Amino acid sequence: MLPQTAGMNGLADGIRDLGRASGPHGEVLLRRRTTDDGEVHLELVVDGVFAMDDVDTSTERLLAAAALSRCTGDGLQVLVGGLGLGWTAATVLTDPRAAGVDVVELQPALVGWAARGLLPSLAGVSDRRLRLRVGDVAAALAAGPGRWDAVLLDIDNGPGFLVHESNAPLYRPPGLATALTALRPGGVLAIWSSDPAPELLADLAAVTGAVDAEQVLLPVERDGRRYEYAVVLARRAGQRSGQRSVGGTGRG
Ligand SMILES: C[S@@+](CC[C@H](N)C(=O)[O-])C[C@H]1O[C@@H](n2cnc3c(N)ncnc32)[C@H](O)[C@@H]1O
Repeated sequence: MLPQTAGMNGLADGIRDLGRASGPHGEVLLRRRTTDDGEVHLELVVDGVFAMDDVDTSTERLLAAAALSRCTGDGLQVLVGGLGLGWTAATVLTDPRAAGVDVVELQPALVGWAARGLLPSLAGVSDRRLRLRVGDVAAALAAGPGRWDAVLLDIDNGPGFLVHESNAPLYRPPGLATALTALRPGGVLAIWSSDPAPELLADLAAVTGAVDAEQVLLPVERDGRRYEYAVVLARRAGQRSGQRSVGGTGRG
């Protein structure tokens, strides 16, 4: 995921649209770009904003790995919002402790393209743990208190660079409190950002019941430029029922 114009440098015009659809949340466009060197990459443009490509998906995958590594026990229920090119969701599925993976995506067309195998990260994946559905992740969070062991949010380019203005409340204290409440005690909330997000970290740390708030900085180099992405994390205080405390972190 990158600022709007990045990632285009040095690429030839070998662009082919794989899918294009319009709906209440704007246009979504999935396209394949072939570079001068013959490399083929997928790009996702949402509502006119370059959302991501698959040149380097390490941080989308790290979003999942960072959250799951902080979860204890097995039988984990995980919420991923949104689908994008599927790398975060696919990474969750590689963890055998994940018992259920709810992926909530705003764009119906993207969910359809995933079902048709157009997203290589999930192509050929036939996994009964995966529940892919169309919706607004904010509504899913509000409807599911105490439901998930991990909530992974990658719906914008971060709180400072929204794909949809309507997502802004999610990053403010009441939205963060709702996301935290959607977790089971001891569960982990993780939010991807295309820039370090100290304000988000401070707001998350201040939410009642949040413990162990931290920011993991993720330097990435591409097209000769350096970027610093980030994942902001916190746990909900307490521990999963049936789990014994190890090391005594947190307040609960
Ligand atoms: C950058 S992509 C996610 C990338 C994903 N982590 C991956 O690994 O490919 C952002 C996705 O979030 C979706 N989205 C944006 N706002 C949303 C919302 N409120 N609820 C659900 N999905 C949303 C977009 O349509 C887009 O598919």
